[in-house]
Amino acid sequence: MAFHLIFCFFAPILFIFIFPYLRNLNRRQPPLPPGTLGWPYIGETFQLYSRNPNVFFASKQQRYGSIFKTHVLGCPCVMMSSPEAAKFVLLTKSHLFKPTFPASKERMLGKQAIFFSRGRYHAKLRKLVLRAFMPDAIKSFVPNIESVAEHSLRSLEGRLVTTFHEMKTYTFDVALLSIFGQDRVLYSEDLKRWYYVLEKGYNSMPVNLAGTLFNKSMKARKEIARILAKIISARRQMKADCHDLLESLMSDEQGLTDEQITDNIIGVIFAARDTTASVLTWIIKYLGENPSILEAVTEEQEAIGRGKEEQKLSWEDTKKMPMTSRVIQETLRVASILSFTFREAVEDVEYEGYVIPKGWKVLPLFRNIHHSPEIFPHPEKFDPSRFQVAPRPNTFMPFGSGTHSCPGNELAKLEIMVLVHHLTTKYRWQMEGSNSGIQYGPFALPQNGLPIRLFRK
Ligand code: HEM
Ligand SMILES: *[C@@H]1O[C@H](CO)[C@@H](O)[C@H](O)[C@H]1NC(C)=O
Repeated sequence: MAFHLIFCFFAPILFIFIFPYLRNLNRRQPPLPPGTLGWPYIGETFQLYSRNPNVFFASKQQRYGSIFKTHVLGCPCVMMSSPEAAKFVLLTKSHLFKPTFPASKERMLGKQAIFFSRGRYHAKLRKLVLRAFMPDAIKSFVPNIESVAEHSLRSLEGRLVTTFHEMKTYTFDVALLSIFGQDRVLYSEDLKRWYYVLEKGYNSMPVNLAGTLFNKSMKARKEIARILAKIISARRQMKADCHDLLESLMSDEQGLTDEQITDNIIGVIFAARDTTASVLTWIIKYLGENPSILEAVTEEQEAIGRGKEEQKLSWEDTKKMPMTSRVIQETLRVASILSFTFREAVEDVEYEGYVIPKGWKVLPLFRNIHHSPEIFPHPEKFDPSRFQVAPRPNTFMPFGSGTHSCPGNELAKLEIMVLVHHLTTKYRWQMEGSNSGIQYGPFALPQNGLPIRLFRK
């Protein structure tokens, strides 16, 4: 009897304690993906950065398969290297994963820039940015881009130059052209000067004390905002009919603030310049190493000029470059300058029988997909002819996928084609020094930025 009483009294209490445990058992939480987390806090950061990061990704993939967990830069994360997983994270279930960047980058580019935004604000920005960079809008820039390209190449004749450095100047000029149209002439030197100060702090510790890199960058940001405010107010008075990004950002009916416009202009320069310059550097390297491919591209480009009275490129001409387009695609694949991107799970997400816990980072590994021998046979070989057949869906995503995919991809391809046209028809070049290494800063780049000498044909 006493026992009975005790049982009746304790059982509910016991149940209260055991219940959550039972419930968990019932729901049978799926396991974490395979992999190791390494040391506390530092995790496997050293293994990732002590050598080529792709060796890290490849050896993990070999050991654990196409989805595995690790711990880098203070964050637990899940890395994914199958086309299906990339599609899941970036496209079909993109609402379960939010963009995420290191704090210093977010403050430097501006919190309201398109990369970091979500939901309705992101959709609004995307509409405005896409409008400025869709084919119909960038068509009118062809003559201007062409004169920037000719001028850049002429300035290199005969000198020993660092390809990446020179290509950055070219892509910066094209970015300013697409953002400010004709207004760029007045302000480009000032904007460039401050932008060079700003970018030095992109990977700095966010410590805002006098003299730190971060502090200098924040000052540069303010200077850029001041210049932009001047341009914006001049435009409001002129009511000119422009077709550039600034015009599009200013035209929004619900009205973006000057601060939002500034954040997004700095963001677009950041997204447009080094990426496109890295790709151009790789193209110049691959063409230099593959004489028969260079010959085929040159032949195609010379054919465009033939029988024309005026030696000027038109938008239609850029549609007559199938060989050059395949060289661009193959370069984007082999070089995979953005090896991966970052997202963060906004809730516990189940995928393929594993759980990705809320707050964990998720990294779709573009480069592993582009270098998978099942998808691209002999992946290390530079072979543009493989793009004579369109790649299977989700296996080739140099510009990302889904809601945050690259809105500047048409402009990037256009400016690359224009430069390659003038380069191959008028110049030959030789590469200096050893050219086998790759450096990451953060985009994949030939060692030392590819020193070359350029001569007029
Ligand atoms: C060949 C050169 C380029 C490559 C390989 C490239 C690649 C990418 C990739 C992979 C993303 C998606 C990142 C993610 O999902 O996390 C992206 C986003 C973006 N890119 Fe590009 N890009 C290039 C050139 C450009 C240019 C020329 C512009 C501007 C004119 C540009 C503007 C942007 C912007 C604004 C975003 C953010 C979009 C959003 O968050 O909604 N990119 N780019
Ligand atoms: C740089 O640091 C100084 C001293 O801490 C501070 O007063 C100033 O506001 C900082 N500059 C910017 C642009 O944040």
